[in-house]
Amino acid sequence: MKIIEYVTLNNEVKMPILGFGVYQIPQEETKQAVLDAIDTGYRLIDTAQSYFNEKEVGEAIAECGVPREELFITTKVWIENYGYDKCRKSVFESLEKLNLDYIDLVLLHQPFADYYGAYRAIEELYEEGLVKAIGVSNFYPDRITDICLFGRKIIPAVNQIECNPLNAQYTAQENMEKYGITTSAWAPFGEGLKGMFTNETLVNIGKKYNKTAAQVILRWLIQRKIVINCKTTHKERMIENFEVFDFTLTDEDMSEIKALDDSTSLFFDHTDPSMVEWFDEMVEVKKKQQRADLEQKKGKMN
Ligand SMILES: NC(=O)c1ccc[n+]([C@@H]2O[C@H](COP(=O)([O-])OP(=O)(O)OC[C@H]3O[C@@H](n4cnc5c(N)ncnc54)[C@H](OP(=O)(O)O)[C@@H]3O)[C@@H](O)[C@H]2O)c1
Repeated sequence: MKIIEYVTLNNEVKMPILGFGVYQIPQEETKQAVLDAIDTGYRLIDTAQSYFNEKEVGEAIAECGVPREELFITTKVWIENYGYDKCRKSVFESLEKLNLDYIDLVLLHQPFADYYGAYRAIEELYEEGLVKAIGVSNFYPDRITDICLFGRKIIPAVNQIECNPLNAQYTAQENMEKYGITTSAWAPFGEGLKGMFTNETLVNIGKKYNKTAAQVILRWLIQRKIVINCKTTHKERMIENFEVFDFTLTDEDMSEIKALDDSTSLFFDHTDPSMVEWFDEMVEVKKKQQRADLEQKKGKMN
C-alpha cells in the first residue's frame, strides 16, 4: 500500500507532507512527470507561475484518474503580478491554466515588490473559497515577522523556503512555529550540490536502514514536520524518494544531521541586491527565450 502522511495547517486544511515539484521541468516533459509522480503515490504537486508549466500540470491532473479532492495543488504568484489587482487577475489565470475550480495553496513567491497588496488579494480569494490555503515563500525571519505583524488579516498557513541538511533553517522554523506557520522545504537535496547524495554522514546513516542519502534527507525533514517539495524526472527516483514512511531516524541520527548545517544558502542570498535585480529580470528573460523557441519551431514547420 502507498502510504502518505499529512500535516494539518493552521486553518485545519490537511496537506501531504511529501510532494513533487516541477521547477526546471521543461513544458514538454511536465505532463508525463506529473502523471508518473501521481502514479507513484505523490498527491502534492508544487508549481508556480514562473515555472511556465501550470498548463501541463493541469493536463496531468485531468488525465491522472485520481479524484480532485485527493490531490493538493500548490502554485505561486510571481513578483511581476504583485499588487492587489494584478495578483487577483493572475490567480484566475493560474486557475485557468491548471484547469481547476480551486487551488489548494497559493503562495507569494518572493518577498519583494508590493507583497502587501498581493497578500490582500490572496486573502480575499481564500475567503471566496477559490483558494483553500494561502502563504508565502522565501520569507526569511524578518519578512515573515513583518507580514504577520503588519501586512495581513490571515496568518500565512505555509512558508516555503530552501531547506536541506546544509542549510537546515532551525531558527527560521522556530520563528514560524511561534506564529503557527508550517515550514515547507524547497531544494531538499540542494539540487545535489556540494555532494549531497554522497555525503558520508547521510550515506552512513542510510546504511543502517538500507536507505539512500536521499531517503535519509526526506525522512529527516518528515520527522521535523517539514513539508517537502522534491523534484526528479526519473520514475525510479520518484519511487525511491517516496519510500520514506517505513523507517525512523533516532535522536542520535537527527543530531548527526543537524551538525551538517552551516546555515548558508546553496543558491543565493535573498538580502543581496544583485539577486533582487536577477529576480526582476528572470521572467522577462524566460519569456524572450520562449518566444524565440516558438519562432524557431514555426520556422522549422514552414
Ligand atoms: N519557492 C521557491 O523559490 C523554490 C525554489 C526552488 C525550488 N522550489 C520547489 O522545490 C522543488 C524541489 O527543488 P529543486 O528541484 O530545486 O531541487 P531538489 O529537489 O533538491 O533536487 C532536484 C535534483 O535532484 C535530483 N534527484 C532527485 N532525486 C534524486 C535521487 N533519489 N537520487 C539522485 N538524484 C536525485 C534530480 O535529478 P533528476 O531530475 O535528473 O532525477 C534533480 O537534479 C522544485 O521542483 C519546486 O517545486 C521552490
